[in-house]
Amino acid sequence: MSTACDFQALSALDFESWAAALRARVEQKADAALPRPSGGALDTLFEAMRYAVMGGGKRVRALLVYGAGTLAAAPAAALDEAALAVEYVHAYSLVHDDLPCMDNDTLRRGKPTAHVKFGEAAAMLAGDSLQPEAFERLAMTGLSDAQVNALTRTLARASGAHGMCGGQMIDLASVGRRISIDTLRQMHRLKTGALISAAVRMGALCGDPARFAVLEDDLSSYSAALGLGFQVVDDILDVTASTAELGKTAGKDEASDKPTYVSLLGLDEARALAGRCGDEALAAVARMRARPEAAREGLQRLEELSRYIIRRTC
Ligand code: IPE
Ligand code: IPE
Ligand code: MG
Ligand code: MG
Ligand code: MG
Repeated sequence: MSTACDFQALSALDFESWAAALRARVEQKADAALPRPSGGALDTLFEAMRYAVMGGGKRVRALLVYGAGTLAAAPAAALDEAALAVEYVHAYSLVHDDLPCMDNDTLRRGKPTAHVKFGEAAAMLAGDSLQPEAFERLAMTGLSDAQVNALTRTLARASGAHGMCGGQMIDLASVGRRISIDTLRQMHRLKTGALISAAVRMGALCGDPARFAVLEDDLSSYSAALGLGFQVVDDILDVTASTAELGKTAGKDEASDKPTYVSLLGLDEARALAGRCGDEALAAVARMRARPEAAREGLQRLEELSRYIIRRTC
């Protein structure tokens, strides 16, 4: 079946089925794209890379790529590569986040963390290797040079010191300290929001550039609100959900003396903030409804994704 054909069939599905089909698609694309152990000297590295990416995760960032791509009528093959790229960077960030020098976690996606399974050096190198592989996927989208350039800059900016790594630095420097709500917001926007925003932008960048130009501002508002909301919900679930539900150790933020929205504002206010983030994202989608450039199915998917992200229980 061609990618265009089976991708089109997704439009008839309800959100749960759409998300499940795309999660399976990402899994299958990652399986085909990631290096495979073959009895050589690099087997442990390849196994650790596959372990980090495959077999779990909600695939929220990939789903956002597909949702925004649907909005901008992007070709399926390009969205597949962009979705893999952002999931690779996300997986690398989790492997490093779990290392003893960072959050020192032993459970991720219901399994031992990569460094517990493969050792610290292999886990670190698996993360390091996934990052350039992500950018290689972007070079394989089949899009114009200008689009590949824009995708590359978007993912690079969101991953590095001005994005995820910068946020992780603030996070680690804040352990055991009282920080202001402004610093906390900056930390969350960078460590988590930047990659979520990049996913949305990358999906839309894979589509028609004229459509992207019209939708850019509203998409930025949508993804900024959702990016913050996503991490506020992560903070809430750390307190309210169980280790079994999360597939990672619950109660870890308090045990590590990390500032979070729950520790700074309390659970009720954190929940109210997450709700406001969701409302802001929905308002941005509502504004895009007035735009003929926005494909209707994409608007629906972005609405469904914002509800899912804010209401999720794991
Ligand atoms: C966990 O991300 C790390 C954060 C940025 C909060 P996810 O909750 O998206 O993790 P997976 O991919 O579903 O495991
Ligand atoms: C991690 O935030 C953000 C990343 C960049 C990986 P957390 O440290 O809160 O994520 P979890 O709770 O371990 O998934
Ligand atoms: Mg962390
Ligand atoms: Mg962590
Ligand atoms: Mg967390």
